[in-house]
Amino acid sequence: MTPADPSGADVRLRPLALDDVDRVMELEDALFGPGAWSRGAYVEELTSAYGRTYVAAVVDDDGRERVVGYGGLAAGDEAQVLTVGVEAAYRRRGIGALLVDALLSAARTGGARTALLEVRASDDVAQRLYARAGFVPIGVRRGYYQAEGEDAVVMRARLTRTPGPVGSEHTGGGAPPAGSGS
Ligand SMILES: CC(C)(COP(=O)(O)OP(=O)(O)OC[C@H]1O[C@@H](n2cnc3c(N)ncnc32)[C@H](O)[C@@H]1OP(=O)(O)O)[C@@H](O)C(=O)NCCC(=O)NCCS
Repeated sequence: MTPADPSGADVRLRPLALDDVDRVMELEDALFGPGAWSRGAYVEELTSAYGRTYVAAVVDDDGRERVVGYGGLAAGDEAQVLTVGVEAAYRRRGIGALLVDALLSAARTGGARTALLEVRASDDVAQRLYARAGFVPIGVRRGYYQAEGEDAVVMRARLTRTPGPVGSEHTGGGAPPAGSGS
């Protein structure tokens, strides 16, 4: 099937729903290979997990909605970005950044002061996506991805809570503010 116009212009975000799990399963292997989550894991996350936010990026595809990306977050004082993925044909159009921003916004709403994530040490693209959203590397978990024995880079973003105009809540995208310690 030919993808809908992947211009990114008509992308919108909405909560990821149980009805989306078939579509997520179509995408999951291509996005994450051996790290793909199972159907059961998604059903569990979307039905019974406490404090989770899952967001879908959707486009119009000939009058039908098409999920082209999704992301998930576990809330808490230290929120955890659990997953972010965008269908290959729709990448480099800002959809990944939109998803990360939505997850961080949910984290702030949930009262988080920081957000953490693990990302494959070899995944420069994802690390750039996260760095752009204000995450900085703070450590390495050796052999975290057990299937391949690959290390994870741990990244953290400090979340500001000051309300302001849309777009002004960005955490900085680079160095933390002067004087901010751990
Ligand atoms: C990582 C991923 C989600 C990025 O999605 P995306 O929609 O293409 O990302 P965006 O278009 O919003 O790009 C945001 C930033 O990420 C970085 N980036 C994204 N793709 C990149 C690429 N191919 N090369 C270099 N940098 C890239 C850039 O800094 C980019 O900002 P810019 O376009 O202003 O330069 C997507 O590549 C993906 O799904 N990969 C497979 C799954 C995965 O690795 N997920 C992350 C681990 S959980």
